[in-house]
Amino acid sequence: MQKLELTLAIIKPHAIKNPIALSYIRNVLRNKFVVVKTKRVSLDKESASKFYEEHVGKFFYNRLITFMASGAIDLHVIAHCNAIELWRRILGPTSVYKGQFKEPNCLRSIFGLSDTRNVAHGSDSLESAAREIKFFFPDFSFYKWHNDDEELYR
Ligand code: PPS
Repeated sequence: MQKLELTLAIIKPHAIKNPIALSYIRNVLRNKFVVVKTKRVSLDKESASKFYEEHVGKFFYNRLITFMASGAIDLHVIAHCNAIELWRRILGPTSVYKGQFKEPNCLRSIFGLSDTRNVAHGSDSLESAAREIKFFFPDFSFYKWHNDDEELYR
């Protein structure tokens, strides 16, 4: 049996402000994944810097932090047997411009505006997913959720 995997999807501020993008993305999440937890937050620059600390020093760092602190974001913990890879595949390449040539049907190609305003984030590894979920949902326990869920089917 394939193991269930969790990842964190973050819908970025410009997509939250676009009702068509938001409802399209929500439908994709609901249809392709089990949505385990959802919350809307507004990050201040300090929290955004902490979340993106692995990118400190990169030329786009300040732009990314300022943008992520510019409006509400939606956080979704989503589950699937291959959630990390699947969500990143649905998103498409970080670079919207490249994606529009290579993978025009991906979310970033459809709704992305730039490499920063690229619709949504997806954890890039099991380690990042665990760290990022803990960052926003410190009390969430995968094991508790998984066991509670299994009880439904006993
Ligand atoms: S990297 O360099 O490979 O680590 O970058 P990547 O993991 O693809 O992207 C990390 C986040 O940085 C943003 N990003 C950029 N913003 C502005 N300009 C440029 N050129 C740029 N490149 C990457 C990108 O939106 C990623 O945000 P998240 O939230 O992780 O998707």
